[in-house]
Amino acid sequence: HGVPRVALRLAARKGDLQGRITVEASNGNDLTGLFDEIRAHGPLAPTGIGHVTTRHAAVREVLGSDAFHATRPRYGDGVLGKIADWASTDVLHPVQPPSLLVTEPPDHTRYRKLVTRVFTVRAVEQLRHRTQEIAEQLLDGLDPRDPVDLIETYCGLLPVTVISEILGVPQEDRAKVLAFGAAAAPSLDLGLSWRVFRSVETTLTSFDAWLSHHIDTLRANPGNNLLSQLISARDEGIGLTERELKSTAGLVLAAGFETTVNLLGNGISLLARNPDQLEVLRARPELWANTVDEVLRYDPPVLLTGRMCMRDTEILGVPVRRGQLVATVLAGANRDPEVFADPHRFDVARDNARDHVSFGAGRHYCLGAALARMEGEIGLRAMFRRFPDLRLEQGAGRRPTRILRGFERLPVSLTASG
Ligand code: HEM
Repeated sequence: HGVPRVALRLAARKGDLQGRITVEASNGNDLTGLFDEIRAHGPLAPTGIGHVTTRHAAVREVLGSDAFHATRPRYGDGVLGKIADWASTDVLHPVQPPSLLVTEPPDHTRYRKLVTRVFTVRAVEQLRHRTQEIAEQLLDGLDPRDPVDLIETYCGLLPVTVISEILGVPQEDRAKVLAFGAAAAPSLDLGLSWRVFRSVETTLTSFDAWLSHHIDTLRANPGNNLLSQLISARDEGIGLTERELKSTAGLVLAAGFETTVNLLGNGISLLARNPDQLEVLRARPELWANTVDEVLRYDPPVLLTGRMCMRDTEILGVPVRRGQLVATVLAGANRDPEVFADPHRFDVARDNARDHVSFGAGRHYCLGAALARMEGEIGLRAMFRRFPDLRLEQGAGRRPTRILRGFERLPVSLTASG
């Protein structure tokens, strides 16, 4: 976090490890060799601005430590190095305060407790049936005779439709929410250019206005959805401010948008390329839930996160000084041979797939983990049940993002004759 794009490119040229990760990631390269190289340095490896780690134990320790705080990214403008601080504007942004992602105790503790009260595993289970219906409807809409781009027609639509239910968005506003999500999604990535930043700002401003109106409507006329419950919790005076309420709704939209889309896309691609694993699943369908965790481990939607060191400390014996940034590479920790046997093998029956850190760890552990797992399981399973002969076609392309990992296009033939 916090490093403008140009600085990362320069750093990469000078051999800086974190710079190399973000630059190679945005070029869609396989990073596993680099992860192993970084791990060989020890628990933490040096960078120009602090440290980077691909060790599972070190990632968990940093994310679990009180000595580190989440930081909000700043945006740079290429050579000019213009820094914009989003907090100076009034518009809510998914990764700027008061987003849960960058809030710390004691505020984070109070705030997170309130949001978790609504976002329970039980609440997610109640969405299972509806998610299945949505997935089947989307599959009904696909023409099996033509090659289709599954990002556009399936992976990109399932999560936002489920999130719309959670936020109680009426049918007539769904297209608008889809457009907001698509336009605001790049805001979750690192090193955004000033130009993209400005266009995101415009979108977020309209989203903000729409959200205020939507919250007023739900307040007058509550529905059976999680946002209505959050609104009534706030109205009972239990702590959530109006800005926190809106920020949470925005983060839920953005998070559900980018990351779950990538989980589905990465999963379809991996399974289509590993027919032997689909064979295992046909014999043992109870492994579908585990498959979702193995997809998350092997090709995580969020490559890395980072923390700012707030006071001098040590991580597994390595000193870290106040003011240093530590990049915790989730994708690298997921390939740590100390934890995962034969880590570069995709194995849907792996017995500790769930030990991945793709949802983070510690107090910022993903609020939507249960929801994402449920959507991933239903979404992938429904796809391969309907189209067991699905084949990847030419033209698949990764998104040019630095932190988020997923496909921009995933063209497939749905049937053997298609
Ligand atoms: C936090 C990943 C889906 C809501 C996080 C973090 C990660 C993550 C890595 C921690 C970031 C950090 O520590 O810096 C993912 C992945 C997903 C996913 C891989 C899908 C496969 C979702 C969904 C929601 C969601 C569907 C919607 C409810 C959140 C929120 C936080 C968060 C609100 C902040 C929690 C806090 O800071 O206390 N997510 N996420 N995520 N996620 Fe997710």
